[in-house]
Amino acid sequence: MASLRAKLITYHVALLLALLSVLGLLLYSRLSRIVYSAVDSRLLARAGALAAGSVDSGDARQVDVPDAFRWEYRTTQSGSFFELRDSAGRPMAKSASLGGLDLPWHPEAAPAYYQTVSFQGEPVRVVAYRTRPDEGESPRDALVIQCATRLRSERELLRRFAGTLAATTLVILVASALGGGAIAQAVLKPIRAISASIGRVSEASLNERIEVAPIPPELKGIAASFNRTMARLEGAFRRQKEFTADASHELRTPLSVIISQGEVALRKARDPEEYAATLGSILQTARLMSGMIEKLLALARLGTDAGALQRECLDLGEVAQGAVELVAPLARRRDVSIAVASHAGFAVWGDRAALVEVFMNLLDNAIKYNRPSGAVSVRVERDGDHVLATVSDAGPGIPEKDLGNVLERFYRVDKSRSRELGGAGLGLSICSEIVKLHGGTLCIESQVGAGTTVLVRLPAAQQHAAPS
Ligand SMILES: Nc1ncnc2c1ncn2[C@@H]1O[C@H](COP(=O)(O)OP(=O)(O)OP(=O)(O)O)[C@@H](O)[C@H]1O
Ligand SMILES: [Mg+2]
Repeated sequence: MASLRAKLITYHVALLLALLSVLGLLLYSRLSRIVYSAVDSRLLARAGALAAGSVDSGDARQVDVPDAFRWEYRTTQSGSFFELRDSAGRPMAKSASLGGLDLPWHPEAAPAYYQTVSFQGEPVRVVAYRTRPDEGESPRDALVIQCATRLRSERELLRRFAGTLAATTLVILVASALGGGAIAQAVLKPIRAISASIGRVSEASLNERIEVAPIPPELKGIAASFNRTMARLEGAFRRQKEFTADASHELRTPLSVIISQGEVALRKARDPEEYAATLGSILQTARLMSGMIEKLLALARLGTDAGALQRECLDLGEVAQGAVELVAPLARRRDVSIAVASHAGFAVWGDRAALVEVFMNLLDNAIKYNRPSGAVSVRVERDGDHVLATVSDAGPGIPEKDLGNVLERFYRVDKSRSRELGGAGLGLSICSEIVKLHGGTLCIESQVGAGTTVLVRLPAAQQHAAPS
């Protein structure tokens, strides 16, 4: 792949060459037309003068060559010739410069013609001029005077002109290639500067940015998008780091509980009941950890890649119903009733497993954080070009100050109570991620003492049409 600079120079020089060639051809053809028409007019004038000087001397014509150009027609070297012919083309008189030769004769080319012919191996311009018969003479008494001249000096002139044109073109091309090289260098300088700073920035740290101000406006876009990419990368890195830190912190607590319970149990010999109680507690904590790890894995799998979803056209009411059946045993254990109000036919483009996960988490919260013998209601309805799913409970609600944070990972309103209930503080963030990947929104409305409603809005599917 040729460099940008080489390409710029090549295109530039090729365009200039084409333009200069056209200009050169135009100039050359114009000059040669001027030169040849000057020769023709000179020859025609000369033929007229010779015709005027022709004299009838008995049975043959003589040409009285004016003194001014007598010298010209004397020798072959002069390169000037004339020949006088009668109307039938028979030679009657000619210049001494012709020696024993005749000028080429074309009887069909009358009354006057201009021709370039090869004569004695050299190009010669011939003009034939036919006189009008005098009064009382018959047309057959008309004369044809051919005047010719070698084109040596004209050819030489044109040859030199062409040479000068070619040399000038070459000089211009070389100069413009050098100039173009310098211009390309100057134009590409900011690009080199950008790529150098990109190199520096990517080697340094993620929080470095390219300074956009000194960059030419045409290239600001590149620098700006690089900076945006870096900002996104930095954000992703930071979130990843925080997530890892949070996850290990959250896993450390139950782990240290297990360790200390084990240590205490082993310190001395105990009754089987005591061992059983310790093991039960260890098992419960391990289950909590296992659930947490599962949720962490789910979050990691989700990432931010919407392409990872296996989408199909789903009836959201049906998905909600399926989730309700899955949490039914938990609801029964806690004596919580679940009412579903949904009509069929509210379709969305979604990943079934992921959306079931959303409802399971919302229902799990609504059951866990509820009053004894409380109620939960699930609704699926149409909301403009969206499908709205609501999960409401009549539990204690979420305080206003916590409402903005509950979607964050590991955020629990009442940490100890939530952990007691087996909560890792990940459920709502998983829901929010899934809904976001589906192009929807999740919001929570809650009033302390009155209950909580979670609203999930997903774009409604156009039947039989996948979203682009
Ligand atoms: N329906 C609700 N009523 C009252 N509080 C709620 C409700 N849903 C969530 N919360 C509060 O928001 C916090 C975050 O909920 P989230 O579902 O993310 O985590 P979790 O239920 O504690 O744990 P996990 O869902 O990971 O098992 C909960 O700890 C709880 O304090
Ligand atoms: Mg939860």
